[in-house]
Amino acid sequence: MRILGLSGSLRGDSHNTRLLRGAGGLLPAGVELEVFDQLAAIPPYSEDDEHEPPAAVAALRAAIAASDAVLVATPEYNASIPGQLKNALDWISRPVATTPLRGKPAAVIGASTGLFGAVWAQAETRKVLSTIGARVVDRELPIAQADEALGADGLPLDTDALQQLSATLDELLESAGAMPLAA
Ligand code: FNR
Repeated sequence: MRILGLSGSLRGDSHNTRLLRGAGGLLPAGVELEVFDQLAAIPPYSEDDEHEPPAAVAALRAAIAASDAVLVATPEYNASIPGQLKNALDWISRPVATTPLRGKPAAVIGASTGLFGAVWAQAETRKVLSTIGARVVDRELPIAQADEALGADGLPLDTDALQQLSATLDELLESAGAMPLAA
């Protein structure tokens, strides 16, 4: 089984990309998480280009189609979804009849250096994914003050947050038809 990880941050040392990789380390044997690494190459969406999508869009489309589930980790920019992540989701949402996100199990987690852990960005990402037709896990994982909240392995240091992450992954795995994490 394959889970596609999508980080909403393009930053080299992104907390969210680290969190994604940390989440990947929790997955049971037989489930792999691959982090999509071409988000920065996706150009601005235009309906004019919809029928000849650029290579990076085609790559994301294929990666989602080849995955059993999608896990998004996103920071919050100005109380909302980072523009490049929203732009990528807009691309993937079209054509509506063939979007690979339709019916795809998806979950959203997130980290910010502020006090609220990107909760608005996570809520809006869940809303966008649901609108596109994904089957979105109804959970959030707010990692606040991310500079101090994550260990070297990318996992939350706080026990409750780590449990929340495990619960989110369990729901995602269940939705994708996989066994849950080991207790
Ligand atoms: C931020 N940041 C931020 N944090 C937050 O909690 N709420 C917000 O609205 C914003 N707004 C915002 C706008 C912009 C343009 C930037 C660059 C940053 C701070 C953000 O949480 C912090 O930079 C994170 O470290 C970004 O995540 P990555 O890149 O570490 O994954």
